[in-house]
Amino acid sequence: MTLFIDGCMRENSRTRELAQAVLAHLGGETETLVLAENGPAGLTPETLAQRDKLLAEGALDAPLFARAHQFAAADTIVLAAPYWDLLFPAAVRAYFEAITVSGITFRYDDHGVPRSLCRARRLVYVTTAGGPIIGNYGFQYVEAMARGFFGIETVQCLAAEGLDIIGADVAAILAEAKSKIAQL
Ligand SMILES: Cc1cc2nc3c(=O)[nH]c(=O)nc-3n(C[C@H](O)[C@H](O)[C@H](O)COP(=O)(O)O)c2cc1C
Repeated sequence: MTLFIDGCMRENSRTRELAQAVLAHLGGETETLVLAENGPAGLTPETLAQRDKLLAEGALDAPLFARAHQFAAADTIVLAAPYWDLLFPAAVRAYFEAITVSGITFRYDDHGVPRSLCRARRLVYVTTAGGPIIGNYGFQYVEAMARGFFGIETVQCLAAEGLDIIGADVAAILAEAKSKIAQL
């Protein structure tokens, strides 16, 4: 099963369009999580205390951890996130907070090193930007989490840049990005 995490925040999102082309290429069954509709909120003092309590009790089947179980069970992950303020929307970071749960998506070994408890072997990060992507910090963060915590070996980025530059041929830029999907 492919898990599609839709971190797009606009109705006619170009990032979602690109991600859907990736999903069509991958084929097979897809489960979709739209962060704008059902995404987890960032942790607060209250929800952090609740989470700590549940973890101390070993209550890993609590609803609070549903997203972490969903992520851990996926074979492939496609994450769509527009390039916002050099990164991605805050909902994407809140999502990572919710799925990074010791005992579900990873565990710490005796040396304090995270070890994966996830099935997925591949993650495709899809993004589009108004101008040029500087640093690609969003992808770097996702890649570090995917490799370091979730043991995902193949982490790839598909990007389309310059979509909001005056005079940009948006359709041509997206078509070029889509033409690279087969090489991923
Ligand atoms: C809140 C916000 C922040 C953005 N920050 C950047 C940015 O730092 N650099 C950039 O090139 N474009 C930026 N953009 C433009 C988007 O990256 C661009 O429009 C992108 O294609 C949006 O994707 P979407 O069509 O999937 O919504 C920003 C747009 C928004 C709404």
